[in-house]
Amino acid sequence: MSMRVLVTGGAGYIGSVTAHMIARAGYQILVVDNLSKGHRQAVGDLDLEVLDIGDATALRESCLRFKPEACLHFAARSLVGESRLEPALYFRTNVEGTANLLGALAAAGCRRLVFSSTAAVYGEPAGIPILEDDPRKPINPYGSTKLEVERILEEMSRAGDLRYASLRYFNAAGADVDAGLGEDHDPETHLIPRVIEAALGREPRAFIFGTDYPTLDGTCIRDYVHVKDLARAHVLALEHIDEEGGAFNLGNGQGFSVRQVIEAVKKVSGREFEVVERPRREGDPGILTASSERIAGALGWKAEHPGLEDIVGSAWSWHSEHPRGYTG
Ligand SMILES: NC(=O)c1ccc[n+]([C@@H]2O[C@H](COP(=O)([O-])OP(=O)(O)OC[C@H]3O[C@@H](n4cnc5c(N)ncnc54)[C@H](O)[C@@H]3O)[C@@H](O)[C@H]2O)c1
Repeated sequence: MSMRVLVTGGAGYIGSVTAHMIARAGYQILVVDNLSKGHRQAVGDLDLEVLDIGDATALRESCLRFKPEACLHFAARSLVGESRLEPALYFRTNVEGTANLLGALAAAGCRRLVFSSTAAVYGEPAGIPILEDDPRKPINPYGSTKLEVERILEEMSRAGDLRYASLRYFNAAGADVDAGLGEDHDPETHLIPRVIEAALGREPRAFIFGTDYPTLDGTCIRDYVHVKDLARAHVLALEHIDEEGGAFNLGNGQGFSVRQVIEAVKKVSGREFEVVERPRREGDPGILTASSERIAGALGWKAEHPGLEDIVGSAWSWHSEHPRGYTG
């Protein structure tokens, strides 16, 4: 397989792990990223064009030169809190940026797209585990921008202009230790790397927000999926995109609580640190877990690293080797 694949946001966390995995599978890659959140080091020896998806002309020129046959679209702003403060910025980057991308791909004759969607399109879940056909009612602007893009893709597909897969990731976690790739966000808002920062002594303590949820230990349950499993789903989505498309949940199928995550970090790191309990945060549902039956049936995807210690252990390995991230 040597399809030419454009990877937007390929300098970021999930995009870089995926770009390297599909390069190893024999695809030709061009990464486009404005490096606002990503890291040049994570792109390594793959081809990189530093550009902003807001720049429709540059994007079009890049596509006309590279002539992609498919695109993996990771580039987005993805901080829920920031999206509440600056919704217009989120719509500009995530929705307008995607519209620019779709125009550029069309100009180059490319009609295949795998889109990084999110569990945030569902908002408060109608039931657990969450199914792809459950109502989509985002409760923050970030989720609304991703839903807007899903709607554009649905309409283009209906018009026969596009083959696409919207992969609705739940909580991406872990690292591709062999490839030297891990999670390095600034600010970091995700639970596992934040708890690891406490284990490394880079943060004075770890926090639990809410201990009175109706869950096994009172703390929130989330569906953590290993970033290598996420990346593999993109390889499968690309292989099958001409026959299978639409929306797919991407989760582990089982959830882990905040306390379980903290215990797992203590165990794999062998370190103790202070844990502070705080009240619930607004807009944090108690349980968010995915049904991944659709992607299992359609693409044959199944998590190969579903265990919490496997996920947390890989994150710990990467962070302890890169205590200051890529730039340290
Ligand atoms: N991390 C998760 O748990 C998670 C969950 C659900 C969905 N997602 C989605 O997956 C995708 C990747 O997430 P991630 O955690 O790897 O994020 P990330 O921030 O690490 O990566 C995003 C990349 O896009 C680039 N980028 C941002 N704006 C850009 C622009 N205007 N032009 C060009 N490049 C731009 C950034 O520099 C970065 O390299 C995002 O679309 C995110 O919304 C992530």
